[in-house]
Amino acid sequence: MDVIKVEGGHPISGEVTVEGAKNSALKLMAATILAPGTNTITNVPNISDVHVMGKVLKRLGATVEVEGEHTLVIDSGSIDRWETPYELVAKMRASTAVLGPLIARFGHAVVAMPGGCNIGARKIDMHILGLEALGVEFSIDHGYIHASAPSGVIGADVTLEFASVGATENLIMASVHAKGTTTIENAAREPEIVDLANMLNEMGARVRGAGSPIIEVEGVGDLHPVEHEVVGDRIEAGTFLAAGALAAGPVHVSGFDPVHLGLVLKKFEAMGMDVHREARGCTISRTGSIRPCDIQTLPYPGFPTDMQAQTMCLLAMADGECIVTENVFENRFMFAGELIRMGADIRIEGHHAIVRGVEHLSGAQVKSPDLRGGAALVMAGLVADGITTVSNVFHIDRGYEHFTEKLLALGAHVERDVLPDDLEGDQD
Ligand code: UD1
Repeated sequence: MDVIKVEGGHPISGEVTVEGAKNSALKLMAATILAPGTNTITNVPNISDVHVMGKVLKRLGATVEVEGEHTLVIDSGSIDRWETPYELVAKMRASTAVLGPLIARFGHAVVAMPGGCNIGARKIDMHILGLEALGVEFSIDHGYIHASAPSGVIGADVTLEFASVGATENLIMASVHAKGTTTIENAAREPEIVDLANMLNEMGARVRGAGSPIIEVEGVGDLHPVEHEVVGDRIEAGTFLAAGALAAGPVHVSGFDPVHLGLVLKKFEAMGMDVHREARGCTISRTGSIRPCDIQTLPYPGFPTDMQAQTMCLLAMADGECIVTENVFENRFMFAGELIRMGADIRIEGHHAIVRGVEHLSGAQVKSPDLRGGAALVMAGLVADGITTVSNVFHIDRGYEHFTEKLLALGAHVERDVLPDDLEGDQD
C-alpha cells in the first residue's frame, strides 16, 4: 500500500506549475467521440482518472496514444461500440460523460449506472430527465442505463433543478447534432464547461452562452477533429496556494487563470493572506496568524466544493471559530474526522462544520478519504508536529500529477513509501 509521509515544520516556498484541469480533460476526451478522426488534446494531466477515461474510449473502439507526457492523440473514427462497463464506471464516475456524445453520434448508449461514492450518492437523475426532454428514451436493466433516441435528438428547453456540472456537459454534448436548438437553463458555469464548449465550437458545433446560466446549442451536421489545449487546473492551483498559505510561503503558482479562483482568493485574503494575481498565475504568502472566515460551497462562481477540505485545513489553525457549510455534496466532511485525529477541533452538524482554530496539529497516521481530502491531509502534515503518514494515496493519484515531487521542490519534507502488508490494516 502506497503512503505519503510528511515531516512537519519545514517552511515551503518557491514556484510550482499546475497541469491541465482533470475535470476538463476527462470531458474533452469524451467529446472526441463527436468528431470522428484524429483529435489531439494537449496539456492533459498524467493522472489515473485520465488513464481510466482512455480505457473507456478504447473499449468503445477508439485508439488513444500518448505523445510525450501531456498530449493525447485520440482517433475516434474507429468507435463502433457504445457500451461502458461497470468496472470502469465504478472506478470513475466521470465515465458517464460518454453518455451524451454516444447518443449524439450513434443514437444509442449503454452506460453502467454509477453507485454511491465517498462524497455522496451522486445521482444522475438530472442527466436522464434533461436527455428525456430531448427525446432520448431510457430503460434501466441489470445495473445498466440503456439510452436510445429513435427519432434522433430533438432540441428542447431544459431547466436543471441544480446547476449540475455533469448534467450540463452531457446535455450540451447530446444536443450538438439535434434537430433545432436546445436551451439549458440553470446551467453550470464552471470554467471547465467553457473549455468544453470552446472545443466543441472549434469542431464546428454551435454552443453559445457557456459560462452563463443559459446555454444554447444549435444542432449542426458533422463535426471535424481538432487540436485543443486543456484549461489550467484551478483546483490543483488552489491546493498549492492553500499549502503555501498554511506554511507561510511565499509560493508562486503558474499555469492557470486566477479569475477561475475568484472567490477562493478573496476568502484567502479575508483570512489574512497576501495574494498577488497575474495573468497566468498567482503568488501567496502570510505573515500574521490565520483569521477565521466562514465558507459555504456553491456551484461556480461560488466557493468550489473541491477546495473545501484544503480550506478547512487552514481554518483548523485559525485564530478563532468559523463555520464551513457544504451545499454541493452531502457527505464531504469525512476529511474532518481524519483532521480531528491530528488535533483539530471540528464539530459536524449536518452539512455544517464548526471549526475552532487550534495552535498546533500533531502528526498522525491518517487515511485519505477522497481525492481532495487526501491532498488536504498531506497539507496538514506540512505544519503538524512530527510525522504524518497518509494512506489510500490512490485517491490523490486520481487528480494530482507528481504531487510529492512538486511539494519536494517547494522545500517540503515529504516522501512516498510502501507500507509492508502487516501494517496495511483494514482498507474497507
Ligand atoms: C463535477 C466534478 C467534481 C466537482 C463537482 C461540483 C468532474 C469529473 N467532477 O462532478 O470534481 O466537485 O462537479 O463542482 O467534473 N446531482 C444530482 N443529480 C444529478 C446530477 C447531480 O442529484 O443528475 C447532485 C450530485 O449528487 C451532487 C450535486 O448535484 O450532490 C452536484 O453534482 P455535479 O455538479 O453534477 O457534480 P459532478 O459533475 O458529478
